[in-house]
Amino acid sequence: VILSPQHPLSAGRTGDSRLVRAYRGERPDTTPVWFMRQAGRSLPEYRDLRVGTRMLDACLDPAMASEITLQPVRRHKVDAGIFFSDIVVPVKLVGVDVEIQPGRGPVFGRGYADAAAVAELTSVDPARLDEASAPITEAVGRTIAELNETAPSGSRDASDSVGRSSTLGGGGTPLIGFAGAPFTLAAYLAEGGPSKDHLAARTLMHADPGAWRALMDWTAELTGRFLRTQVLAGASAAQLFDSWAGALSLADYEAQVAPASAKALSFVHDLEYGSTDASGTAVTRRVPVVHFGVGTGELLGAMHRIGVDVVGVDHRIPLDIAAERVGAGVPLQGNLDPALLAAPWPVLEAAVLDVLSRGRSAPAHVFNLGHGVPPETDPAVLTRVVELVHQ
Ligand code: CP3
Repeated sequence: VILSPQHPLSAGRTGDSRLVRAYRGERPDTTPVWFMRQAGRSLPEYRDLRVGTRMLDACLDPAMASEITLQPVRRHKVDAGIFFSDIVVPVKLVGVDVEIQPGRGPVFGRGYADAAAVAELTSVDPARLDEASAPITEAVGRTIAELNETAPSGSRDASDSVGRSSTLGGGGTPLIGFAGAPFTLAAYLAEGGPSKDHLAARTLMHADPGAWRALMDWTAELTGRFLRTQVLAGASAAQLFDSWAGALSLADYEAQVAPASAKALSFVHDLEYGSTDASGTAVTRRVPVVHFGVGTGELLGAMHRIGVDVVGVDHRIPLDIAAERVGAGVPLQGNLDPALLAAPWPVLEAAVLDVLSRGRSAPAHVFNLGHGVPPETDPAVLTRVVELVHQ
């Protein structure tokens, strides 16, 4: 499927941005940077806007979701926006009882930890999501309309030998779409809410492999459709969050989880756009996909093998070691320890430079944190980190 000519990738607005170039393995003029959870409670303008609106209502209000997505781009001059939404939004949109409790996370009306519960959940056709996705499509549309005009200066290489930035309509900041990977969603669904060890999901996968496969299959299609909607509406890259995959052994990950994650990504892997390569030859490219999880040092190779372009790495494993584990030729994203955002500047500065230096072990590197921005973070520190990375 070819993306529409108005899509920022097809229209040449984001295909040569620092972010998209790094995601396809090139080294732009400077390392691109964005932060997981860059939109959110660390920003006073976010806290002001959210007063009186519940999290999932905010996600489904296109004007609000778009404004919140844009706030950190304007403030920090990061190289990408990440769509303001949540991994449970598609579950909510097909009618499942779920809310996000402040300070806690997603909480469901019940847990889905046995065959009967899973059968009830999966009786809803995931294709119904497409009929309910108008708020997502509208929010992405509003967001890219403004991002098209907000390229941070120099975010496209001025030295582009074929002059693409001038001939193809100018720069734009790319929007990253995202979705939860089936396991991370299933960890919440099985438990009925947040948990430390995701025991209910890990039990179900062995206690009732049939029910587990049904749950993973359903979740994969639902979350894959959510991701596809965002890309069709204008996202220039996609990130699959398997935040809790680090709770699994490599064997369980490969047998019980990876196939469902690959299925989720099949909903975006067929989306293509026309571009030109460095010599001006016409090429067809796929939308770049990033795969991230927490505590996944032992899983990095397997997480790459499901068929992604970029692996996101948390702070527990240095990028040079991560580069060895994923194998040659794979761009990496990460991995400053979020705890260091509250450390004295000289300590933080040294840590940022260390991440950048280790990132040179990979063919390309997108600077990020090892996990999300802590809510107490001073936003001025994030802006300063962006400036340092860009220097
Ligand atoms: O800026 C961004 O990164 C984009 C927005 C984003 C949110 N959730 C908004 C959000 C993204 C990418 C997510 C993904 C998400 N949601 C994940 C995967 C990424 C990760 O952090 O590992 C997970 C596990 C969830 C589930 C979830 N939603 C949790 C654990 C929480 C935190 C609960 C809390 O209050 O601490 C949420 C709520 C949530 N999602 C907030 C935001 C900005 C906080 C809501 C608020 O302002 O109260």
